[in-house]
Amino acid sequence: MAKKKEEMTQEQVQGAAAETAAPAAGKGMNPVDIFRDALMKTDREGMVDLLSFIQEIGFLDAPCSGGNHLAKKGGLLEHSVNVLKYAEKIGVSLLGGAEYNKIQDSVVIAALLHDLGKCGDYDKPMYVENILKSGKPSEAKPFKRNPDLLAVPHAVRSIKLATLFIDLTEEEEWAILCHDGLYDFMKYDLNGKERPLQLIVHWADMWASRVIECGSDQEGAE
Ligand SMILES: [Fe+2]
Ligand SMILES: [Fe+2]
Repeated sequence: MAKKKEEMTQEQVQGAAAETAAPAAGKGMNPVDIFRDALMKTDREGMVDLLSFIQEIGFLDAPCSGGNHLAKKGGLLEHSVNVLKYAEKIGVSLLGGAEYNKIQDSVVIAALLHDLGKCGDYDKPMYVENILKSGKPSEAKPFKRNPDLLAVPHAVRSIKLATLFIDLTEEEEWAILCHDGLYDFMKYDLNGKERPLQLIVHWADMWASRVIECGSDQEGAE
């Protein structure tokens, strides 16, 4: 059960958000520490075991895409921290500090775990090295989808892997499932079913992947 937090002003939440999710240049925290600290601060039961599992399955070193955005070692971690950073900015701006504070734990969990499924499953990574016919690794697209892993949408896989260790709220589950908004399997069926947490994570994911990392987060584009 998450500890009850003292109500914060908008300025304080923005300060806390910066402290939680600022890049290493901010207060000297590296992405791994930001990721672990933010998730541990949610006090969600099972988080210690989930974090051990996340390390075991290679999340910290995984690329974020095949050749699109952050297609490099550690790219998935960097992207997840970026999404948290922008989700906190969006959440505080739209809701104000006091209201944002009520959903902060859910924002942290949904933002940092939305792409957990990109690690793959069944001891098979989602991305493997992309070796060209010449035998050389591709520079344009360093990774490719693992042909040995079935095409379960990565958002579905994120929920499956997280809920092996922690409970997600219904809103968190929806936010992770629909983090790609209209661009994924829900497509226009999402119309009218949007939720505040889902929209915050979706917009943060779009801003991080499209604007900051200059790529696309959709599987079809990877
Ligand atoms: Fe994604
Ligand atoms: Fe993403």
